[in-house]
Amino acid sequence: MAVHYITSTPQVLKLLNSLKKGQTCVITDHHCLEHCVAALFDHPERFDPKIFTFPAGEINKTLDTFSEAIDFLAQNNLSRQDQIINIGGGVTTDLGGFVAACYKRSIPFINVPTSLLAMVDAAHGGKVGVNHGKLKNYIGSFTTPSHTIICPEFLNTLPKEHLLSGFAEMLKHGIISSSRYWDTLKSSSIENLSPSNWMNLIEESIRIKTEIVQNDPLEKGERKKLNYGHTVGHAIESHLLHSASPVHHGNAVAAGMIIEAHIAMSAAGLNKQSVEDITNQIIDLYGKVPLEHGDFGALIELMQADKKNHSDSFRMALPKKIGVCDYDVPVNAELINRALLYYINL
Ligand SMILES: NC(=O)c1ccc[n+]([C@@H]2O[C@H](COP(=O)([O-])OP(=O)(O)OC[C@H]3O[C@@H](n4cnc5c(N)ncnc54)[C@H](O)[C@@H]3O)[C@@H](O)[C@H]2O)c1
Ligand SMILES: [Zn+2]
Repeated sequence: MAVHYITSTPQVLKLLNSLKKGQTCVITDHHCLEHCVAALFDHPERFDPKIFTFPAGEINKTLDTFSEAIDFLAQNNLSRQDQIINIGGGVTTDLGGFVAACYKRSIPFINVPTSLLAMVDAAHGGKVGVNHGKLKNYIGSFTTPSHTIICPEFLNTLPKEHLLSGFAEMLKHGIISSSRYWDTLKSSSIENLSPSNWMNLIEESIRIKTEIVQNDPLEKGERKKLNYGHTVGHAIESHLLHSASPVHHGNAVAAGMIIEAHIAMSAAGLNKQSVEDITNQIIDLYGKVPLEHGDFGALIELMQADKKNHSDSFRMALPKKIGVCDYDVPVNAELINRALLYYINL
C-alpha cells in the first residue's frame, strides 16, 4: 500500500490516470461529487469513470447503501480486474472500502480522502464497514487500498465543523503517542494554517497511526490505543445519531477524550494537570455536546454493546500521561458515571 502526498488536484488526476487499470468506478457522496469529483473529472475524454453516489452523512453508512453500490457495480459489469476509487470523507472510505472488500470477494481500490478526518484517520489502517442500526461499524472487515492519495487542497471546500471533527483525531494522536505533537497542535490555529503546515501535520498523524497499525494490524494489542476517546465517543455519537442534535464523529470523540481522561485519572494514573490541559484545549475548540444526566443509562448500555468490551466489564485505552497510552484497562460503571458527571458540569 502506497501513500502519495500531492499538493494540487490536477496532480491528483494525473496520478489517478497513471494508476488506471480496466474500468473504474468512483464511489462518492453528493457533497463530494459537487466539491471534489466534478472538478477532478471535468475532461471526460481523458478519464470518464462510472460514478456511484449516495446522500452524504453518517446516517447513510448502511447496508442499504452498500447494497445499492453492489447493484451499481454489477450493472456496470465491474470485474476483479477493474478498480474502485473512493473519493470522500470517512463515510465514503469506510463504505466504499467495504464494498471493495466484498464485491466478487474483493476488487482493488484506491482511497482519495477529502475530509481531514479521512486524510488522517479513516482512510488508513484497513478498517472498513457500515453501521447497523444504532451500532457503529458493527458490520465490516479489514482490507487495504492499493493506493491512498493525500491532497490538502480538498480541505478548501470542507466546512469548518468537519475540519474540527478531523482535528480531534489529530489531538488524539498527540495524546496517545507524542507530547511534542500535542504541543504543536495546541499552538496551531486551524483557521490560519498554510497548505504546507497542513501537509506536515497530516503526515505526522498518518505516521503515528501507521506505525501503531503496522505493529498490530488486527487490533490484538497496541492498536487498541487508537480507541482512546472512542468507547465513550462512539456511545455519544450513536446515542445522538437519531436525535434532534446529532454530533459529528470527531466532536463525539473530543467529548469522549475529556470523559476518558477523567477516568484515566483513577484508572491509569493520568495526573490532574493533564486532565485539565486536555479538557481546556477541547472545550476551547469544541464547546460541549448536549448531554444530560438522563442520558447516562443509555450511554452505558451502548458502551456495553461496544465490540471492545466483554459482556460484564469495560476495557478502555487510557493515557498514563500525555504521549503514553495504556490499553485494555479495566474500568467500572461507577468511574464512567463520575466522569460523565464531570463533563456535564463543566
Ligand atoms: N475506518 C477507520 O479506521 C475510521 C477511523 C475514523 C473514522 N472513521 C469513520 O469516518 C466517518 C467520519 O468521517 P468524516 O467526518 O469524514 O465524515 P463524512 O464522510 O460524512 O464527511 C463529512 C462531511 O463532509 C463532506 N465533505 C467531505 N470532503 C469534503 C470536501 N473536500 N469539501 C466539501 N465537503 C466535503 C461530506 O460530504 C460530509 O458531508 C465515520 O463514519 C467514522 O466511523 C473510520
Ligand atoms: Zn475516530
